[in-house]
Amino acid sequence: MSDKPGLLVVGELPDWDLRALEARFTLHLYYAAADKPGLLKQHAKSIRAICTKGEIGADAALMDALPSCEIIACYGVGVDAIDLAAAKARGIPVTNTPDVLTEEVADMAMGLMLAAARRIPQGDAWVRNGAWAHRGSFPLTTRVFGKRLGIVGLGRIGSAIARRAEAFGMAISYSGRTPKAGVAYTHYPTPAALAPHVDVLVVSAMGGPTTKGLVDAKAIAALRKGAIFVNVSRGTVVDEGALLASLRDGHIGAAGLDVFLNEPRIDEEFLSFPNVVLQPHAASGTVETRQDMGRLMRENLEARMDGRPLLTEVIS
Ligand code: 8YV
Repeated sequence: MSDKPGLLVVGELPDWDLRALEARFTLHLYYAAADKPGLLKQHAKSIRAICTKGEIGADAALMDALPSCEIIACYGVGVDAIDLAAAKARGIPVTNTPDVLTEEVADMAMGLMLAAARRIPQGDAWVRNGAWAHRGSFPLTTRVFGKRLGIVGLGRIGSAIARRAEAFGMAISYSGRTPKAGVAYTHYPTPAALAPHVDVLVVSAMGGPTTKGLVDAKAIAALRKGAIFVNVSRGTVVDEGALLASLRDGHIGAAGLDVFLNEPRIDEEFLSFPNVVLQPHAASGTVETRQDMGRLMRENLEARMDGRPLLTEVIS
């Protein structure tokens, strides 16, 4: 028997992370296990840590199955899928990976905004499928620079999007419960109040029960016809039925979406809209950022095992 502490790896991780984690832990690859309850039962005593991902999380039943668990480390900033109350009740600290992915997610938000407005995927297809040669010029699109941008949730990621949008000459406003101190952008208390004042709406609020359905049917209806809609936060933050209806009616002009309800088996209607650019929850998905996320997650796990202070504990 190894004397290394057991680590339950809930979701798939890159090889470089698994190799580095192996130096300190005995890994139990939960995602790959055919008999998941069997794995938990067999190693319940030796598993002292869980690592999971933003979109998978950890529920109370998993915590109950692992009574020796001393930490849940999330590979991602959003911990909405982790039952924080259950972790707190059991005295299990939770860590996440803030900051290291902020700029990357903001880049994706700008990329989706540009791709949706300028129809970049469709232009690519136009060249590849020979339409350029046979049908001629690509239909005209719409601009991004100089437009009015509304940001739902001006946190770390929202602020990084705003910094980029400033360079695009965009007029920036945002919604949030309270105005941010020292911020010159116009504040609105709700997405519904913000929506009539923007040409592009980007959702970057955190997920979880407090923001469920925050971008509601009223907010979506309040957008001007032809507005561009981008979501890089969580599917839960948006009333997805209202978003689909607005796309169906041709009210929203174009959308760039990285997150959905029921990932990865998203509502298939999204696939039917030619004016929607889809991403597989990939906003933080570059080699560089994922390496930074993996390193921070590992440092938290190791700190806990060594009895050192955690680097990025989530306070609930
Ligand atoms: C990741 C995320 O895609 O940070 C988050 O909250 O959702 C993403 O960065 C995810 O956690 C990694 O699988």
